[in-house]
Amino acid sequence: IPGQPYGLVVFGASGDLARRKLFGSLHDLYERGLLSDKFYLMGCGRTQFSDEEFRSVVRESVEKTAQNRDVSEKFLTRMFYLSGQYDDPKFYEDIKARLKELDGKYAVGGCHIFYLSVPPKIYADVAEHLGQAGLSKPISCECPGQPRLVIEKPFGHDLETARELNRRIGEHFHESQVYRIDHYLGKETVQNILMFRFANTIFEPVWNRNYVDHVQITIAESLGIGHRAGYYESAGAVRDMFQNHMLGMLALVAMEPPASFEADHIRDEKVKLLKCIRPLEDENIDSAVIRGQYAAGEVEGEDVVGYRQEEGVAEDSRTDTYVAAKLLVDNWRWKGVPFYLRTGKRLPARLTEVAITFKTVPHSMFAAVGLDELPANTIVLKIQPDEGIKLSFQAKRPGSKVCMTTLNMNFDYAKVFGSGAPEAYQRLLLDSMVGDQTLFTRQDDVELSWKLLDPVIKMADSGAGELYEYAAGTAGPESADRLIEADGRKWRPLMS
Ligand code: BG6
Repeated sequence: IPGQPYGLVVFGASGDLARRKLFGSLHDLYERGLLSDKFYLMGCGRTQFSDEEFRSVVRESVEKTAQNRDVSEKFLTRMFYLSGQYDDPKFYEDIKARLKELDGKYAVGGCHIFYLSVPPKIYADVAEHLGQAGLSKPISCECPGQPRLVIEKPFGHDLETARELNRRIGEHFHESQVYRIDHYLGKETVQNILMFRFANTIFEPVWNRNYVDHVQITIAESLGIGHRAGYYESAGAVRDMFQNHMLGMLALVAMEPPASFEADHIRDEKVKLLKCIRPLEDENIDSAVIRGQYAAGEVEGEDVVGYRQEEGVAEDSRTDTYVAAKLLVDNWRWKGVPFYLRTGKRLPARLTEVAITFKTVPHSMFAAVGLDELPANTIVLKIQPDEGIKLSFQAKRPGSKVCMTTLNMNFDYAKVFGSGAPEAYQRLLLDSMVGDQTLFTRQDDVELSWKLLDPVIKMADSGAGELYEYAAGTAGPESADRLIEADGRKWRPLMS
């Protein structure tokens, strides 16, 4: 469905994220005919650009993937730019005047999306200025909907700052106008968790404490921090990945069936699930959460430096680049089933998956022939890089009477659907244009996840708690192995 008419206002339009992700995604949507005819983009930023100069910036970001030059040129004619200072009320008055003019030209009827691609510490200020300039309300009575505000993580730095951010934004924008992007939720295979669980009858009956032994959620990255030391030093793995992507996936895997595919039905269930996670107490943090930092090592055949030697990182930095945790969900469905989560940088391979390990058979009728311990069935939801679903089970191998082997039933997304799945950003941009908040994180969700991790963050920020070293290219600190092995289980391999 082509998006509704919208004037998209991108703050920070000359910045890195806009160039790397936004323009390319929008251009792709435009090429595929998914943007309304009544669409324009106005970039805003401190850098001085004319409309033409801005179009060159956008052209550079889109030309590598562009399929058709004429279409690209048409797309570029819809790009405009206005420069100013984010803390200057006059800037917002100028924006308003320019929007009125462009709304008329493109007949968008006064509907606007404000996309904040600016440093998170000024999100609230920009939202306030927008509100004070009257831009958080429709500026024309023809507009069918309210203006929308799109922001990217991090949503605050901890519980307190997240609450403050929500409060300040909330003074001008109603929650239904706020679209908080967690790009993991935009991934096709993450969305598939919902379809897999709730569009089939055969999995849901065993998706509980009676059949599931434990669940492992992994986001492993082979990359380091790149050029993002400035941000990463004040974030670390707990804030960068765990509070948002990891807990978001856990919620989708473990929540109860929503009544419908409506945004708030789904978001209500996610929030209910987060409320059931047993709080981490100071006394049990060390045994439930392991934080690590990579030292020099070898990743994918290349020597790489340790985190503390990365450009821009303090020599004595205590920032975590790895975190593993054991979480318990205290509700009827999951009581006693551990959820082991881990994420880290400079691990041996890039791998994101959710693995459900079922209980082993209660009694092996093959014990007499030496098969008294049979491997457990697993369902692995493979998120990336090889998207798919794998179900493993035992089967007879041709040969002697008791030859048995583990077989895998593999569904491979790329083989079945080709590799043209829309990029997460495209999905999310389009959803923000059609006003579907399903894949965006709600305020209470954000606050609950910060609340859960608050003791970990406080401990880490105060310099207390262990920070274990792991060599780059290994699967993380040994203490993380002990975390799961203490329960008689093992992490799944990161490489096949
Ligand atoms: C981002 C984090 O949210 O997700 C990055 O800030 C991380 O540190 C990235 O590398 C991983 O995303 P993906 O889609 O590459 O798995």
